[in-house]
Amino acid sequence: MYVCVCKAVTDRQIHQAARDGARTLGDLRRQLGVTTDCGRCASCAHACLKEARQCDAHGAACLPLAA
Ligand code: FES
Repeated sequence: MYVCVCKAVTDRQIHQAARDGARTLGDLRRQLGVTTDCGRCASCAHACLKEARQCDAHGAACLPLAA
């Protein structure tokens, strides 16, 4: 699923960024470009990052099913 339409960033990319060390929305901004255009994706991107970090914390392989 697209989280950031402007930069064509998906939830899978955010999960991967979290596995690669992204911890904040600023990290996602630098790595993927989310929120750097219209900014409407900020809350969704933050929620997706939070979910991804919870998956990491539990050691679960919980990649989203749809891209
Ligand atoms: S939807 Fe992400 S910057 Fe516009």
